[in-house]
Amino acid sequence: MSDTRIQDAYAILKENDRGTYTVPTKGLYPFQWNWDSALSALGFGHFDEDRAWTEIDTLFAHQWDDGMVPHIIFHVEDDGYFPGPSVWQTGRDVPTSGITQPPVAGFAIRRLYERAGDKAQAAARARPLLAKVAAWHDWFMRCRDPQGTGLVAITHPWESGRDNSVDWDRALARVPTEGVTPFTRRDTQHANPDHRPTQAQYEAYIALVEGFRALDWDNSRLHDASPFKVVDPGFNAILIRSASDLAWLAEELGEPEIAARQRQIARAGLDAFDSLWSDAHGQYLCFDRVSGSSVDSLSVGGLLAVFAPVPDARARAIAARIADLGERARYMVPSHDPDAPEYDGKRYWRGPLWLIVNYMIADGLRVAGQDAVADRIERDSLSLIDSGGFAEYYDPITGEACGGGRFTWTAAMIIEFLTRQSEDA
Ligand code: GLC
Repeated sequence: MSDTRIQDAYAILKENDRGTYTVPTKGLYPFQWNWDSALSALGFGHFDEDRAWTEIDTLFAHQWDDGMVPHIIFHVEDDGYFPGPSVWQTGRDVPTSGITQPPVAGFAIRRLYERAGDKAQAAARARPLLAKVAAWHDWFMRCRDPQGTGLVAITHPWESGRDNSVDWDRALARVPTEGVTPFTRRDTQHANPDHRPTQAQYEAYIALVEGFRALDWDNSRLHDASPFKVVDPGFNAILIRSASDLAWLAEELGEPEIAARQRQIARAGLDAFDSLWSDAHGQYLCFDRVSGSSVDSLSVGGLLAVFAPVPDARARAIAARIADLGERARYMVPSHDPDAPEYDGKRYWRGPLWLIVNYMIADGLRVAGQDAVADRIERDSLSLIDSGGFAEYYDPITGEACGGGRFTWTAAMIIEFLTRQSEDA
């Protein structure tokens, strides 16, 4: 494709490619991140299918024995990032963090397979991944849903991928931080401190890590022991979607047992999902498992829910809610409602918009037949690139590019949007 934006996006992917994995961006994030890799693989798939599969293979090469897939893999030493391996102490040959991230790999491998030019080749790459992705999903059900509710909890805000969302404020404020080892942050040296999580939040993040470390990262104990346990609709939607996509792929590749189990996971999640719906707000909300109450926070997590095959009426309501946000923000989809008191248009996940979230929401809306809102999201995403380049995230009112620059998954999402449009034309 001749669009220069596609060429620019390819250049970013190549620039951030470290051979078998990609870094999200130079400097700020020098290692491999879990959901960044799964989504970035989609971008590689447009010009180097082999390399796309390798990205996912590398991620799963570092899966833990219990099935967990860590959120960071520290392939190299780099003291430009905190917290590094000496804080996590997970005892692995290639160090990893000890928590996970949104399980979007199941969705990504179905998409890679479906689009593949050479199906036999794609099947050969996908087949060995089926059992690994399935084991990760099983880990979630075992270790993050021990009561069998159908929905999983995150035990650390970083697991959500929406690090400092307003969603976590109350739950995080209950995490005891006395005695946390003093530390020096690195993120504020790479990016504007006013755009980053606060010091108090960082202390709670590290206190949680130290608490889990004291339990030897034993996932059979961490859920119940954690002072932070939140059920995030966005996160669960990703798991449900990935489980049903994995079921599809397993069926296609002749693995009916994996398919049946994944269908069961998706079904149980969808059955329980409606308990997170709020009629008053016209969107899904988080549920705090420690306090036993719904979290009254109007974040994009409750809209990302449409990435799962939710009932049509819910998808319609989410489309309407996004259209309403579109009356109040110039660019879709803000990570927090601009009229909420906690909204902060430049502070990471407390207002700014992120293209990966836009991509998943737009995809879910299209599946539900809500193309008009999906089109608006796509248009806004592309115009942000035109004005601000491939940034980590953007201010939804001014369109200002924020955070790290030349960002891998932002580039990958632009390739996805532009390719879809050209196929549509
Ligand atoms: C930040 C984001 C997270 C992402 C990581 C690497 O921590 O909040 O979602 O995976 O950066 O890009």
